[in-house]
Amino acid sequence: MAPSILSADFTRLGEAVAFAETAGADVVHVDVMDGHFVPNLTIGPPVVRALKRTTTLPLDVHLMIDNADDTVDWYLKAGADMVSVHVEACRDLPAVLRTIRAAGAKAGVALNPATPVSAIAEGIADVDFVLVMSVVPGFGGQSFMPVALEKISQVADLLRACGSSAEIEVDGGIDETTAPLVCAAGARLLVAGNAIFGRPDPAAALEAIRAAGASALGR
Ligand code: DX5
Ligand code: ZN
Repeated sequence: MAPSILSADFTRLGEAVAFAETAGADVVHVDVMDGHFVPNLTIGPPVVRALKRTTTLPLDVHLMIDNADDTVDWYLKAGADMVSVHVEACRDLPAVLRTIRAAGAKAGVALNPATPVSAIAEGIADVDFVLVMSVVPGFGGQSFMPVALEKISQVADLLRACGSSAEIEVDGGIDETTAPLVCAAGARLLVAGNAIFGRPDPAAALEAIRAAGASALGR
């Protein structure tokens, strides 16, 4: 599970990360938005650096920014453990992915609901994970787009065909209802914001989403 702190209280981010640790999250999902690639502006390297000081959980930094080629380094230096860049927003995808790996972080490519899976083929040799968006990025709390299920299966097929062991992460509208669907399709790392931080008992919500996903895998 990858709780997205986008839906947490921004005046208490340290507490949100501490909660993620206690609740048994696998990573903390950090949404970086630039106001250009997506119509929202969130957090940048100083906040990633501050979060890094407060947790031992890996920071999963999702860059929704144009020309990540030029600034990916900032996030690597700030302590990101996983970095995903959007295929729609990179000039040289394989080069960016190699930069991420060279810094010792896991490299991910993200793709929007409208982007065909074929678009990520050129980066596939350099990815550790593929982030399939199940909403149009920009805001938390949106509804899951079922088109993502077919996308996840196609990505799984592509990875298999390439002999890649990269994992599939899914992001947007994940809750107890959609978690089993995306896991059955091939996703293994689930991002959830609103369905965790928007609930009265976030720890119980995280566990319920995890259990729902695991049930689809017979675990
Ligand atoms: C959306 C972000 C997501 C967002 C998910 O652009 O990339 O990570 O926080 O939020 P929920 O789970 O509320 O859809
Ligand atoms: Zn995200």
